[in-house]
Amino acid sequence: MGGNPRRIDETAVGNRYGEWFSRGLRGIGMRYVFSRRGLWVINTPYRHILNAANITAEDRVLDLGCGIGNILIALAERIGFSHPPAGVDVSPDLIRIGEREIARAAMHDRIRLQVAPATHLPFEDGSFDVVLTSHVLKHLDDEALLTSFREVVRVLRPGGRFLLWEFEKSARSALLFWSARVSGLPPAFQLRTMAEFSRALQLAGFHRVVRVDTGIFLMPPVPRVALLATR
Ligand SMILES: C[S@@+](CC[C@H](N)C(=O)[O-])C[C@H]1O[C@@H](n2cnc3c(N)ncnc32)[C@H](O)[C@@H]1O
Repeated sequence: MGGNPRRIDETAVGNRYGEWFSRGLRGIGMRYVFSRRGLWVINTPYRHILNAANITAEDRVLDLGCGIGNILIALAERIGFSHPPAGVDVSPDLIRIGEREIARAAMHDRIRLQVAPATHLPFEDGSFDVVLTSHVLKHLDDEALLTSFREVVRVLRPGGRFLLWEFEKSARSALLFWSARVSGLPPAFQLRTMAEFSRALQLAGFHRVVRVDTGIFLMPPVPRVALLATR
């Protein structure tokens, strides 16, 4: 995949996110852009994409690399879940900020966040019906991507759904590298094509992988790839 043998240190990426969100004016900007209120900026068509997973109130949902809980808060606003949805992120700082965001939305008993890397999920086999991940997988090297997909297979029940979206490797993605430099987006990252994601999902054990229409993203205006995989 990607032809890039580079190793990415998961903990170091999480620490970089912590610094990025904590410092000065840029930190204020990032805390807005990645919050529930800022979803329209970098996750403009998130509702449209989420529709593909057909999430219901009975579903046990996990958001992998949940950041400060934006998508889970937006979901819990619309759906009265019978089991509180869960979020994990490798950055302790982002989980701390996420807890504040959840309290601010008066949802402390309705969403559960915890620190964990995508490659070691702290859940029992078959604990979830749906796993989501948005804009996270570029931070995983090929080995970690496969390990993480196998972890998702493990924590999903048979027939469970995995909805992912991420920047796509394409000629038009050059703008991402420019925007990353300007915004300070934590390195390192590795982009992939839809075919590369599909192959890794199938290798990890997903039975069915279908493309999901992403709609249009405002910032940065770089193509995304979205896939729905069924265990
Ligand atoms: C660009 S943010 C996306 C946050 C949120 N999912 C969204 O779409 O707004 C990427 C997130 O992935 C997390 N992350 C990066 N590498 C990770 C890993 N190996 N395991 C878990 N989380 C990771 C970062 O800490 C950060 O919160």
